[in-house]
Amino acid sequence: MKDNPYSLMFGKAPGQMISRMALSEEIYDAFLSETPSVMIYMLMGVRGSGKTVMMTELSEKLGSYKDWITVELNPSRDLLVGLASKLYNEKGLSRIFDKAKINLSFFGIGVEMEGTQKIYDIEVAIDHMLRALKKNGKKVLVTIDEVVNSSEMRIFASAYQIFIRDDLPLFLIMTGLYENIYALQDEKNLTFLYRAPKIKLGSLDMGSIAAHYRKVFDIDEDTSREMAKLTKGYPFAFQVLGYYTYEHGGDYKKAIFDFRQRLNEYVYDKIWSELSANDKKVANAIAMSKTGRIAEIREILGMDSNGFAPYRERLIKKGIVNGTDRGYIRFELPLFDEYVKDNYI
Ligand SMILES: Nc1ncnc2c1ncn2[C@@H]1O[C@H](COP(=O)(O)OP(=O)(O)OP(=O)(O)O)[C@@H](O)[C@H]1O
Ligand SMILES: [Mg+2]
Repeated sequence: MKDNPYSLMFGKAPGQMISRMALSEEIYDAFLSETPSVMIYMLMGVRGSGKTVMMTELSEKLGSYKDWITVELNPSRDLLVGLASKLYNEKGLSRIFDKAKINLSFFGIGVEMEGTQKIYDIEVAIDHMLRALKKNGKKVLVTIDEVVNSSEMRIFASAYQIFIRDDLPLFLIMTGLYENIYALQDEKNLTFLYRAPKIKLGSLDMGSIAAHYRKVFDIDEDTSREMAKLTKGYPFAFQVLGYYTYEHGGDYKKAIFDFRQRLNEYVYDKIWSELSANDKKVANAIAMSKTGRIAEIREILGMDSNGFAPYRERLIKKGIVNGTDRGYIRFELPLFDEYVKDNYI
């Protein structure tokens, strides 16, 4: 048997992908425009929705353009020092900085330079570096995966705000869970993040998933649609179902046991553990409901609509629940109702 083409690994571009063309194109168009009106995007979505994969794809594509420099920063380290040091070590750039006489030796970056003033403030250092890059027609894309509302992030974001106000060529893509991104933008000096476009990574196109499975497994249309429905368009589920169907010689029905177990172990346990006690209670009522009607769910909970609305809202924003049909809600994640019933105590 050939190697399984699907991937169960997180954060790594899978061999088999369903494109999110419209979303990525929006970002390329904005960033590559002559006078970009947007320089920052935030990718939000539940675990396993493809944030890291999309961020990596955007970064690789933008990095392939002439004069674009891409830098990935670790959100749990000092981001400003990280940025200065990565820029300095980027191929061909140290020459530009040395020529501009930017002395970074205080930060342990580069070499001691005779006859130049040491810079002691990291924001000033980056400001000088970006100005030198701008003069050379360069643009910098910073990517930060899994942001949280930490002091490192807050310091970075408030400095970032000043760099773009000064018209410096610094673009930013961040990913994060809804609750973390909202906590960060709620900080009082970071309100500019409120206006930054947020892209929620929802489900993949069902037609494309069915067409994809049809081709790989050489199955009929109905079967391929059943498979697509089983994934609910959830990116990780697309990989898992493909993976185990492949392992079972192309029969997806034999793959369902593993499919379910893998989803539970790899993502649902984590998602569940991150829900508050009240969110779990609401999730349980959704799982118990026969119709998915909000009226029925509220009755199970004994809640009025005012009490229920914030839970609904939050579970939708987290990407766990879908509320597009008025008066109804249902889980976005495949077999999650089963998971909730099994795990709610
Ligand atoms: N466009 C896509 N088409 C097919 N599969 C995808 C796509 N995007 C992501 N996946 C798959 O979904 C899974 C999760 O992707 P990724 O690691 O990017 O999620 P994430 O949102 O970053 O999750 P986490 O919040 O846990 O970091 C991986 O197995 C990946 O292969
Ligand atoms: Mg990720």
